[in-house]
Amino acid sequence: MTENETAAVFSAQERRFPPSPDFALQAIAQPGIYQEAKADRLTFWANQANLLHWHKPFNHVLDWTNAPFARWFHDGQLNVAYNCLDRHVLEGRGNRVAIHFEGEPGDTKTYTYAELTIAVKKAANALTALGVGQGDVVAIYLPMIPEAVISMLAVARIGAIHSVVFGGFSAEALHTRIDDAQAKLVITADGGFRRGKPSALKPAVDEALSDGKCPSVTHVLVVKRTGEATGWNDSLDIAWEDAMAAASAEHEAQAYDAENPLFILYTSGTTGKPKGILHTSGGYLTQAAYTHRNVFDLHPETDVYWCTADVGWITGHSYVVYGPLANGATQVIYEGTPDSPHPGRWWEIIQKYKVSILYTAPTAIRSFMKGGREVPDAFDLSSLRLLGSVGEPINPEAWMWYRDVIGGGKCPIVDTWWQTETGAIMISPLPGITNLKPGSAQLALPGIEMAVVNDDGRVLEPGHGGYLVITQPWPSMLRGIWQNPERYQEGYWSRFPTRYFAGDGAKLDNDGDLWVLGRVDDVMNVSGHRLSTAELESALVAHEWVAEAAVVGATDDLTGQTPVAFVILRTDKVAEAGSDENVNNVLRNHVTKEIGAIAKPRQIMVVPELPKTRSGKIMRRLLRDVAEQRDIGDTTTLADVGVMSLITGKLAAGAAD
Ligand code: WT7
Repeated sequence: MTENETAAVFSAQERRFPPSPDFALQAIAQPGIYQEAKADRLTFWANQANLLHWHKPFNHVLDWTNAPFARWFHDGQLNVAYNCLDRHVLEGRGNRVAIHFEGEPGDTKTYTYAELTIAVKKAANALTALGVGQGDVVAIYLPMIPEAVISMLAVARIGAIHSVVFGGFSAEALHTRIDDAQAKLVITADGGFRRGKPSALKPAVDEALSDGKCPSVTHVLVVKRTGEATGWNDSLDIAWEDAMAAASAEHEAQAYDAENPLFILYTSGTTGKPKGILHTSGGYLTQAAYTHRNVFDLHPETDVYWCTADVGWITGHSYVVYGPLANGATQVIYEGTPDSPHPGRWWEIIQKYKVSILYTAPTAIRSFMKGGREVPDAFDLSSLRLLGSVGEPINPEAWMWYRDVIGGGKCPIVDTWWQTETGAIMISPLPGITNLKPGSAQLALPGIEMAVVNDDGRVLEPGHGGYLVITQPWPSMLRGIWQNPERYQEGYWSRFPTRYFAGDGAKLDNDGDLWVLGRVDDVMNVSGHRLSTAELESALVAHEWVAEAAVVGATDDLTGQTPVAFVILRTDKVAEAGSDENVNNVLRNHVTKEIGAIAKPRQIMVVPELPKTRSGKIMRRLLRDVAEQRDIGDTTTLADVGVMSLITGKLAAGAAD
């Protein structure tokens, strides 16, 4: 941590926001919860699990004998979709609204729990009719429309495994993910609405499956959303509406083992190949529901909850689908972008549905800050009573703005740290209990054990910075990487044996509160989404002009980090490639095509050499200095000390042009 960062941590530490007595009194989480979990962690988790409906109760809480491969509640059986749907209806909550859907063009649709249950039962029957059964993988590539939630729950209901691929990923990225998981079925839509226009999805599926590239896929279910014409392959494609119309609304949920796989979700690691993070049923649902209830202080009878994440990310899995629905919440789902058709769209939605709990990302908050407080000030946001943040560290300035401008100075803010791998929130204040500190995620939740360690794995005392580790297994932990147990062991459990290494640096302040400082590996965090430098590099070198590439995450005021690439061109392609500007344009589009628009580098610089150590490792630190326009740091470990002056000299010349 730099001196400036340390100073920021310690000055912010002085600012504290204790809970209001009114909030504390009505809060779901009461102070005794920490003591209860500390006294007997496994009994605490068993009690949380018993808030779910078990078709067959469990006797064993945790089996850690085959560490790091955990089994939670493994002799119990449940049905995840039954827990999210049927039991609410059977217990008299069928008329409660589950989903207020707001389409970008302004169309709306409401699903009560009874209606959502019927839709999921039909979809489950439709999937069964297409030959999908327990253990089969279904890829879901949809916009943020109710069918995304319905599809996920239908897959869960029949004991199959979903692999949701974010709609912003390209055909190539989709193909890789379908192929790695050997998906049997793809659920997609003609498209969705973004920024006032239809944005097609089906063509990417067609391209991903073209030339027999994904032989595992037997059918594609296509939801009609935009109504735009799409290519149609009679031997594969089936209209979702036809399949639903033909399906019965009767479906009895079967019981599945607690460790039955629920989903795979691909995320970026430090290599070029995305990893399929595997989550299972009972433990995952237990922690998703527990955290959703306690961290967001959910009062399901009165709250209207809105998590702005897309279902393509883990936040959408745990805090749009499984946590809220297991808890019987009423929530808003919005299809589009925050600024369409006007910059106040989100605030208009909050006013319209009287949203009381908002969960979003620092990058969104910073972009609203930039737009000025006049925009949200024009709407009535008085229904809000709690605000959440996720995806990256929230800087204290953004935290204060969120509190004052959006929360009217009265809403507690929960800064929640977790990962695709952890499945659910791990570190967060508990509203009504914690004295809030802007910029700090503060404490591991009751039931979660974490530490900050130094290079040798020694646990650090308050006042020190180091690496963030999880010291005990937790119910919603990943169970592995799809088809790759070695990468699971090596990637997470080898740096500090017997402890899970999250990949983040963190500092414990003098009060014992945690400040997560960001990734310490070659993983970028762009708008709260993970991207690996290696993945971008391999996309770049796949282009015929590129001999070598290095990508770094440069600090960005809005998105946290943004990719900046450095490429060496192949000598025989220099003439064809033309000007630096042309290379920049062509290669940025190439990355968009290979991975998706979220990975598009801010800039691609053509350089004569890359800075490397004597062992050939690219010194990204130096490139980051260049990308952030700082003076170059220590270059003594460079194999060729002249390289950096070649790069900076070239850039200076470019700037002078
Ligand atoms: C990485 C995980 C968890 C869902 C969204 C991202 C960073 C996440 C915070 C936070 C500081 C955070 C970490 C983590 N991160 N939340 N509250 N404060 N950093 O999921 O793509 O799996 O990325 O996001 O660096 O390791 P993900």
